[in-house]
Amino acid sequence: MAWTPSSWRQLPAKHIPEDYPDASALAAVEERLQGYPPLVFAGEARKLKARLGEVAAGKAFLLQGGDCAESFKEFHPDNIRDTFRVILQMAVVLTFGAAKPVVKVGRIAGQFGKPRSSPVEVQDGVELPSYRGDNINAMGFSPDERIPDPERLLQAYSQSAATLNLLRAFSQGGYANLANVHRWTLGFVENSPQGERYQALAAQISKALDFMEACGIAPDSVPQLEQVDFYTSHEALLLGYEEALTRVDSTSGDWYDTSAHMLWIGHRTRQLDHAHVNFCKGVHNPLGVKCGPGLEPDELLRLIETLNPEDEPGRLTLIARFGSEGVADGLPALVRAVQESGRTVVWSCDPMHGNTLKTGNGFKTRPVDRILSEVEQFVDIVSTEGAYPGGVHFEMTGQDVTECLGGAREITEADLSSRYHTHCDPRLNGEQALELAFLLAEKLQSVGEVMPQVQRAAG
Ligand code: PEP
Ligand code: CO
Repeated sequence: MAWTPSSWRQLPAKHIPEDYPDASALAAVEERLQGYPPLVFAGEARKLKARLGEVAAGKAFLLQGGDCAESFKEFHPDNIRDTFRVILQMAVVLTFGAAKPVVKVGRIAGQFGKPRSSPVEVQDGVELPSYRGDNINAMGFSPDERIPDPERLLQAYSQSAATLNLLRAFSQGGYANLANVHRWTLGFVENSPQGERYQALAAQISKALDFMEACGIAPDSVPQLEQVDFYTSHEALLLGYEEALTRVDSTSGDWYDTSAHMLWIGHRTRQLDHAHVNFCKGVHNPLGVKCGPGLEPDELLRLIETLNPEDEPGRLTLIARFGSEGVADGLPALVRAVQESGRTVVWSCDPMHGNTLKTGNGFKTRPVDRILSEVEQFVDIVSTEGAYPGGVHFEMTGQDVTECLGGAREITEADLSSRYHTHCDPRLNGEQALELAFLLAEKLQSVGEVMPQVQRAAG
């Protein structure tokens, strides 16, 4: 069967709502979207693929992060700015730790639809369809609000377009100036209860920047010092929307999904013969695949063969999400199988989705120490297998929320209720995210020192 942007419609699909009350209204919205401008240009997606190819070769590091679910309610320029700023700060710290360029990819400007563990939600004995993301239905617990509404797709498109516009302005307009970004980080170090722990690394970065300035390396002569390349990504879940934004690139003649630079296939929708894999295999964007408990090495190799038959570097990022208690059991066999196959992939770690738990007072949360533990184990496991631990994938926000437990400010179960704003999973707040970047930078520095031996042992 020849691939087209709509061939997925012939196949079984999980987590795509089927309860739109009016199928023709949905089709009409999708048709309107087909006439709307693309959000990204295919050339940008190709550029990201090339950058990810450098990650696959061990020459760069991937930082991917943002909301679990963007929402209409939290749509505000300050939220976009603050998330962007924390990602830049993390990237500077990681650039130093890994001694490599950091490829920056937001979970933003399109990350709305959510796969849910249950199709229904029960509150006080009342059962309603689950909330599935602001592009599908509303979070309020009433029958009306849970009915899928196709108009929400148009609102999600326009929010994505406005978000991307601001991100492009920040990336290119001077906001991303390296010296400013580092100054914000020094402010964080000064105010953090664990500041001493981060002081040494921050001071090393200050010295490096002073040295560059003394050598005359300044934004006037080197514009890269105040501009960054920032890419967008989301889970390719709601395929009707993705199909509507899939266009032929006039330069290459290839299909690109222009809703984002990078798309990923979630843990619940990566069945080889189902709709999501079918859709993604035909678009030429860089792709991610979540790899978690239950994924067998053979199945992973078949996914790689299906999604990247030409073994194109940067096409495929494997995002491990086993949880701090499952990663040591689940990950080594996958890395080994890919190493033996000789296939080119980026290995990244999502330490969020395997570490979610429910507190006694009813909040979904994640302990920061488990998140850190999973990333550290990931780095050790992947490098022990002779591969390169090339990236991280965080659910985070620049806001001062209280959704994940722990961190330098030691957020406790009792604190969670004070600023718990997420529309889906608990996110790291700005400080917790930056702390993790510092701790990961330390880890990458130490692995960088032993890596050559590890590689010899594996070879
Ligand atoms: C997500 O990234 O928000 C998500 C649902 O992850 P996973 O598919 O890994 O569960
Ligand atoms: Co999530």
